[in-house]
Formats: sequence, structure tokens, C-alpha cells
Amino acid sequence: MKSSRREWTKHAVMVVEADFNRSADTHLIPLPLPGFPGVDLYLKDESSHPTGSLKHRLARSLFLYALANGWLHEGCTVIEASSGSTAISEAYFARLLGLPFIAVMPSGTSPEKIAAIQFHGGRCHLVENASDLHATSVLLARQTGGHFMDQFTYAERATDWRANNNIAESIFRQMEAEPYPIPAWIVCSPGTGGTAATLGRYVRYRGHDTRILCADPEISAFFDGYRAAMAGGSYRDVTACGGSRVEGIGRPRVESSFLPDCIDAMIKVPDALSFAAMRHVGGVLGRRVGGSTGTNFIGVLAAAHRMRVEGLRGSIVTILCDTGDRYTHSYYNPGWYQERGIPRVEADQALAALLAGGEPPPFLKNDPGP
Ligand SMILES: Cc1ncc(COP(=O)(O)O)c(C=O)c1O
Repeated sequence: MKSSRREWTKHAVMVVEADFNRSADTHLIPLPLPGFPGVDLYLKDESSHPTGSLKHRLARSLFLYALANGWLHEGCTVIEASSGSTAISEAYFARLLGLPFIAVMPSGTSPEKIAAIQFHGGRCHLVENASDLHATSVLLARQTGGHFMDQFTYAERATDWRANNNIAESIFRQMEAEPYPIPAWIVCSPGTGGTAATLGRYVRYRGHDTRILCADPEISAFFDGYRAAMAGGSYRDVTACGGSRVEGIGRPRVESSFLPDCIDAMIKVPDALSFAAMRHVGGVLGRRVGGSTGTNFIGVLAAAHRMRVEGLRGSIVTILCDTGDRYTHSYYNPGWYQERGIPRVEADQALAALLAGGEPPPFLKNDPGP
């Protein structure tokens, strides 16, 4: 019995590794930033993964971690709490291994994401309250005798932060022939916090001077948690009310994969500004991007402003997390903004001022961090 389980695991690891071997790396795309001469911006286009987001990397790592730990076996139901992107990628890997998959998601998750999970053979279990995702996943795992992947706990440790073509190593390799090969800043936004942890650990391990800026959306506990941590206080019990409107990032509690000491600066970005930036980036690229890419872009403007104040020239890299085609019913539907009272015209004007190199409002001035 035991040996056939080991045989299944051996085969499953080979299947995941072979899938990786067939896959290409994602592109690094330059994006003009005319308001900031001397600052070169690049987008790491994670939407070009087979499952359309940066979560493809995480899902692969979580499956390999669970397999290496002996947590998965033939027929085992895999369960995940997700705002959708991770679940789409995990549904892909679960199907690759022939395992049933259930995604536990907030009821407001976009219909496009639900359809993508179902397309990959997964089932969706929707909950009203974002803060119930974890408890519901634990319960479902118990009821099905399955395994709860728990990205919010394991994201930071499942990824090999030293190398193994993680997102950080890939960025630094693709920057090698650029005028400023070592980025002054890399900007990301926290969902689990795993990407920030991988980037922060990698630059320290490699001895790079690159700083990591994390941009938190409006409804989220991470920013306040970060400030509490920097002030030397306890931060794990910091909470926020409600679910984030920027899908994929922002959480009602400070998740354990969020490691404040890996981050050099953090800002809080109003959602209206994130969506204005999302529209801007999509307009420049000629294709739609998701909301978290907009949040990242505001982080880029904050970092670029800081470079100018410090008299620095150099490069900034940020992440194009997913495609906007997943948000046709929300961010690309004017009615969605009206229903929520999220201003668009004013936000576009505020963004235009920032793009022209204008002084950022106080909330976008980076928290100096450690
Ligand atoms: C679209 C999108 N952007 C950004 C993130 C944040 O990445 P991380 O979980 O590594 O903090 C997520 C996470 O779910 C996401 O789905």
C-alpha cells in the first residue's frame, strides 16, 4: 500500500516537472514613463502563463510542496481558498494529476474566473463572507478526506526563493542586457504576500541593492499590519473590514505568508486610482490588464517619484499579474463603478497629474520601512 503510494507520488512529480519543461518563461515588457526621464519601467507579464496569472508559478510550487511532503495521494480531493486566480491555476494542476478540485471563493468572484475553474475541471464553492474562506476550506477537507492547500500559509515557503527560475531569478536574468540591469525598485502587491517574500529574500540572498515596494489596496489589513510591524508592535492580529475590491490582492487579516521584514516600503492605494492606472496601462499596451496591475502601477509612480527626490536614475520592475479579460463584468463595465460609487473621471485626472510627474498625495508617499 505504502509503496504504491510512493509510486504514485513519484509519477505525479514527474508529470508536474514535465509540464514545467514544456513551458516557456513569461515576457518582460518595457513601458514608457515620459513623466519620469531617467527611469526605465518594465512589466513582468505573468498573464502569459498557461492559466493566465502569476498564480501559475505558485500553484506549481504548492503542488510540488504537497507532493514532496506526502500530503497528496491518488483520488485525494484538493481544496483551496482563493479569490480565483490561484484556484484557476490549481484546477489546471489537479487535472494534470487526475485529482478532484474544489475552489472556495467569495461570492463576488468574477463569473469569468468561475468559468475558467470549471473549464479546468474544478468545482466552485462560494461563501458570502471573505473571512469564512479558511474555515470553510478546513471543513470541506475534513468532509471529503481531502487536502486543503492553504496558499495563505504556505505561499512563502513552497516557492524556492534562492532560484529554480522563481519570478525574481527570471526578472534579474531578463534584465541583464538593459541599461540599468539591477532594478532600483521591484513593485508588487500582496494577496498571500508570497511574491513579496520571494522577491525580498532573493535580493538579500544575491546581495542586490534593489528595494521592494508593496502596494496594498484600499480594503486590506496588510498596510496597517506593516506599519505595526515597523513600529515594533504585534501585527498578526490586525484586521480590515470587508473583502477587497481589487481581486487577488488585499485581505481582511494579515496572512502568515506576509513577511514585513522582506519589504522595504509600503503604500496604500485607493481603489479608484488602481482602476484608473489599470485603464492607463491597458491603453498603452493595447490590451486589458487586471486591477492588481493598476495597483502595482501606482506603486511604480510612488517609487519613481522617490527616485527623483533622491536624484537617482535607474530601472523599476513591476508585475502584470493577470489579463483584464477576466473582469469584463466588473472593471470593464461602467455600471460596476456606479453601483459602488467608485469615481472614474476624478481618478483619471488624479492619475494624469501623477503621470506628468506631479507630487503624489500624502498616502502615496512611501512608508519608509526599516
Ligand atoms: C491577480 C493577482 N494579483 C496579485 C496577487 C498577489 O500575489 P501574492 O499572493 O504572491 O501576494 C494575486 C494573488 O492572489 C492575484 O491573484
